[in-house]
Amino acid sequence: MSALKILVIPGSLRSGSLNARLAAAAAYQFAQAGAEVSRISLGDFPLPIYDGDLQARSGVPKNAVNLKRMIGAHHGVLIVTPEYNASVPPLVKNTIDWVSRVQEAHETRGQVFRGRAFAIAAATESRLGGTRSLAALRTILSACQAMVIPSQLALPFASEAYDDMDRLKHPADIEALGALVRQLIDVSQRMM
Ligand SMILES: Cc1cc2nc3c(=O)[nH]c(=O)nc-3n(C[C@H](O)[C@H](O)[C@H](O)COP(=O)(O)O)c2cc1C
Repeated sequence: MSALKILVIPGSLRSGSLNARLAAAAAYQFAQAGAEVSRISLGDFPLPIYDGDLQARSGVPKNAVNLKRMIGAHHGVLIVTPEYNASVPPLVKNTIDWVSRVQEAHETRGQVFRGRAFAIAAATESRLGGTRSLAALRTILSACQAMVIPSQLALPFASEAYDDMDRLKHPADIEALGALVRQLIDVSQRMM
């Protein structure tokens, strides 16, 4: 069997992003568990705000196609999203919207969301840890007919969660992330 490939996507471009740090901690745990991990930045796939006229005129932007291919080259995907006003940030929603419009040869539209497992996590400075953002993201991915694993991680008070090396410092957080990592690996393997 080929190595299990996991893609980790932070949903923030901000330097010092709490979610990019959680994505890094997750990537570390996936690697420790034996998976081949890629961690990307959506800054490498800049996209205009979705506009049907733009798509009609010029097609789906190349970056959406490239990101779709990147997702398609992995067996499992973890999206680590901030929470903005009780939902997902426009960066995350807009990216999913564009990728859901990609249809390459011999594919149905948005096919990349089917046939692989997705996991979701969030980090915020507040007490709720992004649970409302996770609920929204689960709904959006489910609308794309993605298989979103039941385990998820909402990391509250995230500015206090990391040590100087950007590793999670609280055992409970490490264990919660570990449970998500194990479940995504398990479900992704079964879908290979
Ligand atoms: C427009 C905006 C709305 C926000 N709304 C929420 C919110 O609803 N709940 C919350 O916990 N944090 C909210 N925050 C704070 C973010 O969780 C915080 O800025 C976080 O650090 C962003 O993620 P990042 O560090 O990965 O960039 C909001 C921040 C912005 C800029």
